[in-house]
Amino acid sequence: METVQTEKKKKILSCIQPSGIPTLGNYLGALKNWKTLADEFDGAFAVADLHAITVRQDPAKLRQQTSEVLALLLAIGLDPEKSVIFVQSHVPAHAQLAWVLNCYTQFGEMNRMTQFKDKSTSHADNVNVGLFSYPVLMAADILLYQADLVPVGADQKQHLEIARDIANRFNGIYGNTFTVPDPYIGKNGARVMSLQDPSKKMSKSDPNPKGFVSVFDTPEVIMKKFKSAVTDSEACVRFAEGKDGINNLMGIYSCCTGLTMDEIANQFEGKGYGDFKVEVANAVIEELRPVRERYNQIITDKAYLKEVAAKGADTASRIAGRTLNKTMKKVGFLMP
Ligand code: TYM
Repeated sequence: METVQTEKKKKILSCIQPSGIPTLGNYLGALKNWKTLADEFDGAFAVADLHAITVRQDPAKLRQQTSEVLALLLAIGLDPEKSVIFVQSHVPAHAQLAWVLNCYTQFGEMNRMTQFKDKSTSHADNVNVGLFSYPVLMAADILLYQADLVPVGADQKQHLEIARDIANRFNGIYGNTFTVPDPYIGKNGARVMSLQDPSKKMSKSDPNPKGFVSVFDTPEVIMKKFKSAVTDSEACVRFAEGKDGINNLMGIYSCCTGLTMDEIANQFEGKGYGDFKVEVANAVIEELRPVRERYNQIITDKAYLKEVAAKGADTASRIAGRTLNKTMKKVGFLMP
């Protein structure tokens, strides 16, 4: 008799911090890929509120932003019937595994993390231990769900590498416990740069609001921000070294339209930057329009959001609990 082979779906996990209104960088570098991959894989997606407190947060704002980011995950089209959508702090296993993994991570390797170096400069008055061990919590997030693939922007690559190192080290000592995750970093959009300083990553914490587009900006604001984007004096739309501003706009346009860099260069041959910027803004406006519209509906339905979070926490706790138990047993804890 012929046997039917059912191939196990690969697992993906990713998280986003509720530390402000997400930007076009978050959307193109991560969220858009989450939606695409969620249709193909078993997905788990979290609002990483535990990570957010490594920088001082206003309590009321943190609560509000956590709900907003949860609503955004639904607005981008993630389906809570298909993917596990949850708030990180609702699943205590994250903090528990992070503690265990802290004891399998070397001070020296953490000391090399560039994000820690950057953030300890920008938050010099609060260089707390959580900020330092942040990548271990991130490793716990990933390893609890036995994720094969982690869709992130390029800025998270180093954190993914350490998650892999921790998983390999633990597996080496105790036998196969964790899936070793691979990063999934999109070709375009992996590093969306500031519109005002294209040598810097687009960031929601940029003190200059013209530098970033928020996913909830109105079409008028988006147009204005792109019109004032920094470019160069060559007046030729082509992807080349030294043309950071134009390269960034081309990357954004490519993500929204699916066109290659060559196709974009052809489309704008003989046209000025003014025309190009307007077309990039229009493409972004159309890309974000359905997200904003769905978001505006979902955010008003508090009961639905609560229900999604509760269901997500329940499923996530079950999955994470299995891995946590297995890990604790291997380490030698007396199980209750
Ligand atoms: P966060 O909240 O800073 O950003 C969420 C996602 O957006 C990506 N991203 C960008 N991509 C392209 N261009 C940009 N300018 C840009 N800015 C941000 C980030 O790479 C990220 O994928 N540590 C993570 C959150 C996290 C996590 C995890 C991620 C916590 N646990 C486990 C993956 C797996 C962070 O701070 O992302």
